[in-house]
Amino acid sequence: MTQLCQPSAVDLFCGAGGLSFGMQQAGIEVSAGIDLDPSCRYPFEANVGAEFHERDLFGLSPNFVDSLFAAHKPRVLSGCAPCQPFSTYTRGRSNPNNQWKLLDKFAEIAQEVRPEVVTMENVSLLSRHAVFAGFLAVLRDAGYRLSYSVVQCSDYGVPQRRKRLVLLASTLGEISLEPPGWNRSREPTVRDTIGQLDPLQAGGTSESDPLHRCSGLSETNLRRIRKSLPGGTWRDWEVALRAKCHRKATGQTYSSVYGRMSWDQPAPTITTQFHGYGNGRFGHPEQDRAISLREGALLQTFPEDYSFVASGATVQVASVARLIGNAVPVALGAAIGRSINSHLAAMT
Ligand SMILES: C[S@@+](CC[C@H](N)C(=O)[O-])C[C@H]1O[C@@H](n2cnc3c(N)ncnc32)[C@H](O)[C@@H]1O
Repeated sequence: MTQLCQPSAVDLFCGAGGLSFGMQQAGIEVSAGIDLDPSCRYPFEANVGAEFHERDLFGLSPNFVDSLFAAHKPRVLSGCAPCQPFSTYTRGRSNPNNQWKLLDKFAEIAQEVRPEVVTMENVSLLSRHAVFAGFLAVLRDAGYRLSYSVVQCSDYGVPQRRKRLVLLASTLGEISLEPPGWNRSREPTVRDTIGQLDPLQAGGTSESDPLHRCSGLSETNLRRIRKSLPGGTWRDWEVALRAKCHRKATGQTYSSVYGRMSWDQPAPTITTQFHGYGNGRFGHPEQDRAISLREGALLQTFPEDYSFVASGATVQVASVARLIGNAVPVALGAAIGRSINSHLAAMT
């Protein structure tokens, strides 16, 4: 019989390890991570300290996944399937039409391996998609009790407005995500999180941290950011600085592109494109530049020494930004981990 002690987790779609690292902080032993992107190997192994398997989930056998769990421990199967158009992740190695089929594959693995606990995180929109109803049906038919909710990550200590769907399922009994621990009247802010970092020029890199580096800006974008107000939009600029599409009545949407963050609020959702000032409200609150990779990682609640590339290796800005923007915020991963531990403790 399984002894209910420290559980062992296998993380499908492990990325750079945001979810795994958070679960580990909560005391869950992460035994392995699986992802088809080779750039996840270094950060996953260096920070989580578990085996990384560079594999396409479509070719994965449930037996292989089963073999990765530590013996005689409750098993946790976690997975955060890609939530953006598939092509950005697979770079031609998988069919884009398969975007949601990965969730079916995840359900199939869960059904076959039948770990005590399954957890999944995804974009909130997924809750309205038929593939999610199918995922729930497979787990229920396999005897799982489950709960899911759309959470605001700032309620879990993440200095960011980021809504996510979190599902927990168990063969042992009722399971749910712990209630939020943060009060809306005192949300974690951009200032609390990145206010202490060295100032940078656009295109600059800190001498003490190669990840504290930010993208350069064209002369036009430098003029634009100088006119940008925290929390403001391109509407604050004189007409001559506006992009052609913003000068037309039809181009009045997307007001948050070319914006600056506000010091005393949570950041907007950190996407895989956060390194570009023109891609969202990713301008630094007062320095004339986009936020740096380290700032993005801190806003995703990675610890300040989380390492994304080996010492001395070239930092590929777009590639590291993708790993950071794709991650489950570590603080949310820790809340998921604590919820699993409380559930297992209650079931003993
Ligand atoms: C949303 S990210 C996961 C983030 C990760 N859980 C974290 O917290 O850092 C989705 C991941 O799925 C991976 N992926 C996409 N298609 C895959 C496939 N067919 N097999 C395995 N991994 C895949 C991507 O490379 C990406 O790292």
